Amino acid sequence: MGIRIEGNLFYIQSKEMSMIIENKEGDLLLRHIGGKIAKYHGSNAILEKDHAFSGNPTPDNRTFSYDTQRQVFGVHGFGDFRQPSLKIAHANNELTQFKLTSSEILNGANEATGLPNPHSTEDAETLVLTLEDKVAALELKLYYTAYADCSTISTHAEVRNLSDKAVVINRVLSTMLDVPASAYDVVTLQGAYAREKTVRRQKVEQGIFTVASNRGASGHSHTPAMILCEHTATEDAGQALALQLLYSGNFQAFVQKNQLNEVRLGIGINDDNFAWQLSAGDSFETPVALLTFSNHGLGKLTQESQLFIQDHIMPKQFAHAERPILINNWEATYFNFKKEKLLDLADEASKLGIELFVLDDGWFGNRFDDNRALGDWVVNEEKLGGPLNDLIAEVHAKGLKFGLWFEPEMISVDSDLYRAHPDWAIQAEGRGHTYSRNQLVLNLANPDVVAYIKAAIDKILTENTIDYVKWDYNRNITNIGNGDTYLATQMQSHDYMLGLYDLVSYLTEKHSNILFESCSGGGGRNDLGMMRYFPQVWASDNTDAISRLPIQYGSSYLHPTISMGSHVSASPNHQMGRTTPIETRGNVAMMGNLGYELDLTSLPESDKEVIAAQVAYYKEIRPVIQFGKQYRLINPEEGSNEAAVQFVYEDKVVVTYVRTLSTIEIIETTLKLKGLEEEALYCLQGTDQVYSGAELMYAGLIAILPQGDYLSKQYYFVKQ
Ligand code: GLA
Repeated sequence: MGIRIEGNLFYIQSKEMSMIIENKEGDLLLRHIGGKIAKYHGSNAILEKDHAFSGNPTPDNRTFSYDTQRQVFGVHGFGDFRQPSLKIAHANNELTQFKLTSSEILNGANEATGLPNPHSTEDAETLVLTLEDKVAALELKLYYTAYADCSTISTHAEVRNLSDKAVVINRVLSTMLDVPASAYDVVTLQGAYAREKTVRRQKVEQGIFTVASNRGASGHSHTPAMILCEHTATEDAGQALALQLLYSGNFQAFVQKNQLNEVRLGIGINDDNFAWQLSAGDSFETPVALLTFSNHGLGKLTQESQLFIQDHIMPKQFAHAERPILINNWEATYFNFKKEKLLDLADEASKLGIELFVLDDGWFGNRFDDNRALGDWVVNEEKLGGPLNDLIAEVHAKGLKFGLWFEPEMISVDSDLYRAHPDWAIQAEGRGHTYSRNQLVLNLANPDVVAYIKAAIDKILTENTIDYVKWDYNRNITNIGNGDTYLATQMQSHDYMLGLYDLVSYLTEKHSNILFESCSGGGGRNDLGMMRYFPQVWASDNTDAISRLPIQYGSSYLHPTISMGSHVSASPNHQMGRTTPIETRGNVAMMGNLGYELDLTSLPESDKEVIAAQVAYYKEIRPVIQFGKQYRLINPEEGSNEAAVQFVYEDKVVVTYVRTLSTIEIIETTLKLKGLEEEALYCLQGTDQVYSGAELMYAGLIAILPQGDYLSKQYYFVKQ
């Protein structure tokens, strides 16, 4: 089974991954994390020797120091000078030294109360290590879950106050790992609004490299994830370990290389804007972190992470369900629509074979622009020409499902909600607001606010036949100051997240038939916390096909392709002003969950014909993209003029090749396909041409495009 205890060793064994922890007189030492080891004999044991300026906890033993040991939770203040995983103020200090007191093995996955958790499956087993600091009267529990079907381990920590006085947690990481000295690279997903999830790879040097958010959301600029790989690792070879956090708020992830070249990794809630008062007897649980390992490069790491998220994180009813092809009216109409326009759009969409009509922002309250009405979740019948359900019935009658946009966590100053409850906005007494898109954030740390939003959204979802919801979040949190005391305010950011998870778990469980897509000005909260409830995410507000190449590359680097909403929009593109062929816009959007977001009613017939063909073709290849294994063939990294992605599912293979700018006097690119059967013959659809798997993988497939910018080609093979 997944967890084994042998002597003083704890084995946590997932599919092709092991974590081995030693109990050394109560100290927990990390002996190994990485490739599977059935039996460990101490081959990498740390040489205990006297290191200058590394303190020793035992007299007359100058060779043991916490500073040189590889740990899973840092002992804080006793000579380990690296980043601590815990800082708890108790008595007059922050020192902690936890020693193991017991261990147990539980069936199922670890669960952090009130937070997003992996699905508990029969093939999962959890090791619980209980430690105690007798001086501080604190208990620490570390949870590690092994999964038989995935190379991922999930983990989190819990601190309990055993004393009779309150203590204050100033830092608690979800997990911390020390790995042997070696040459490593760190890969992170960085960016900004409209250019999310740029893949950044850099060498791990002495010092600390951190990615973090203090925005109250994970943010566009960083993702709560970090990959440590061998410096020599490539797409197909080398070892790589990913850390990811199931959390959507302020986070930090760091890699630290100390003076001895030891490398420490950590991920958890950000210390910024955080302190947690832990009353006597109470406990605090961290968000869950995922550790995913690959022995075969970054490509395999992607596949392993995607597999785990699809099978263990996404809501089960959607994880393996084909996602509808949608039309969204946002870039088609913005706020300027009436019922007739919406129905014309739906009509055209239905003729083209599109399956879902999404009514975006502007359908409620006095929402004629983005300056007002957030919080007033009452249908604007004037704009919709009557009750919402009438519009929905007409859309349904055209054979389309119906989706609706919400931004439930926000409040406009110009709203009935603000006029009734000005104190519900996040704010600090005596100070003015900080506006962003002219709106404020509701204080979800207040249970009354959560109850109001629950009831308001639930009413609309119950009274109307809604198939899909787009849940937006269009600003970050500032002016935090709603607490009665300093500490209450320091608890507000995490309390907000607990309120948010309470809200979204309630609504998604009650309306489990509705497909929820999360959005935050595109990918401003594209993290696994949200994905646990919302199986789809709008990857970016940037709908330009060429800009989307790196965004989609990064958005599917760890998250499954099936999570990624991807739309064909107008040309010239509204964000970039770029003119691209409709074929390329389609081919790029078909590398995710295809949708359209443009005014179909004003397109020339020739474009409509292309769209009808794209929609029909996507229905054929949809399982390959949404359930298949993804292989990256050419990465659209900075300076790259090309991108190529391949998907393999059962006997079908789809390859998409995009060339940004036209080139001259250069030999065409040969794409070496991956993951095929050497002996099998693959027929290129639309032709009679067959190629062997070996030929496509080892000789390659030549990608031929005519002259011109922003051209692309899609190849679809079926195994004979
Ligand atoms: C955000 C979203 C867009 C759209 C608008 C509506 O910017 O990312 O897709 O829904 O809000 O206001």
